Amino acid sequence: MTREEERIRADFPLLSKNNVIYLDNTATSQKPKKVIDDVAEFYRTLNSNPMRGLYDISVRATERVEEAREKAASFINAKNSSEIVFTRNATEGLNLVAYTYGEEKLSEGDEVMISISEHHSNLLPWRLLCERKKAVLKYFECDETGVFSLEEFKHALSAKTKIVAMSAMSNVFGRENVITPFVKAAHECGAVFVADGAQSVPHVRTDVSESGVDFLAFSGHKMFAPMGIGVLYGKKELLEEMPPFLSGGEMIEYVHRDSERFSAPPYKFEAGTMNAGGAAGLLSALQYIDSVGFENIMKREEELSEYMLSGLVKIPHVKVLGSDEAREHHGIFTFTVDGVHPHDISEIMSSKNICIRAGHHCAQPLHEFLGVRSTARASLGYYNTKDDIDAFLKTLSEIRGVMGFMD
Ligand SMILES: Cc1ncc(COP(=O)(O)O)c(C=O)c1O
Repeated sequence: MTREEERIRADFPLLSKNNVIYLDNTATSQKPKKVIDDVAEFYRTLNSNPMRGLYDISVRATERVEEAREKAASFINAKNSSEIVFTRNATEGLNLVAYTYGEEKLSEGDEVMISISEHHSNLLPWRLLCERKKAVLKYFECDETGVFSLEEFKHALSAKTKIVAMSAMSNVFGRENVITPFVKAAHECGAVFVADGAQSVPHVRTDVSESGVDFLAFSGHKMFAPMGIGVLYGKKELLEEMPPFLSGGEMIEYVHRDSERFSAPPYKFEAGTMNAGGAAGLLSALQYIDSVGFENIMKREEELSEYMLSGLVKIPHVKVLGSDEAREHHGIFTFTVDGVHPHDISEIMSSKNICIRAGHHCAQPLHEFLGVRSTARASLGYYNTKDDIDAFLKTLSEIRGVMGFMD
């Protein structure tokens, strides 16, 4: 391990205290000590219901939540922090749009377009919405390496398309879908564009003002923050006209026996006591990213990806999904080994304390489209080391032998 790697890993208690080789970063990232400490500090010193109390600790808890909102807005270059709605995770953000904007705007016969590579979280909310509204769910396809053609996308759009939902980075291919031209094409057709940023926001610079995307959902836990806090970005004018998702406390200005007035966004969408400790953790995670430098995180992920792919391609019988270019993987490597079930791969890895994923990675239609039942996935984080990758590659190269193959 290099000095630099030692220094980075010292920030992450789980990695520095346990003997695990953690290669499941696409599922969730490890948490820096700073984030764990800042969340504990929130509960130790500020714990009170935010947004409500007029006393000191409640006011300060509210300020912490609003600071997190400002920070999240600037991280994705939103114009205004009122465009940042706190959710539990990306899944909740996507459901929020489907149940509010979708429910209000979609009519029988309208179309919702999604890509074939979507995570189930950006597929099922739209399918269920279409079923409720008797609308049509259309898929547009990528090539076998995950590239989408803008021309084919434009061709698939129609005057009936009201919503396009697409991830800005696949959790299977690791490839960035550069959404800006797709957003423009959707807008020219009169559709809104909902981006799933669960994988893209942690790995590449996100600029909602530049891309013009209407909604973008992401999860804190994939970018060093605690589980249970996520963000839905929505354009101000859209959030203003949307009905609420959940109703109850916090999201109203007044309630009388027979009438009510909802708060302005984002509060209209944040019913009930919010996850203030989680928001404090998200703020801390974004501060941690600033202190390291997002460019440095991206650079390190690219270097590790180069190292990983150059090793993977040398192992016979291993096939990597997606691009031949390491920099297009953003640390995400989904693969198969001829004759070996991904669950066996994962269990053999686990016997060496190596954590990887096996299955369909919540992207079953994509697996069906690619003609593979299931795959294994090793995904790198900024704190992984070349030693981690060496240990993974060594075990992988031995797997067919362990399973009784002679070559
Ligand atoms: C592309 C993508 N979208 C959505 C999600 C759902 O994220 P969460 O479970 O945090 O809501 C994931 C999680 O892995 C993902 O990879």
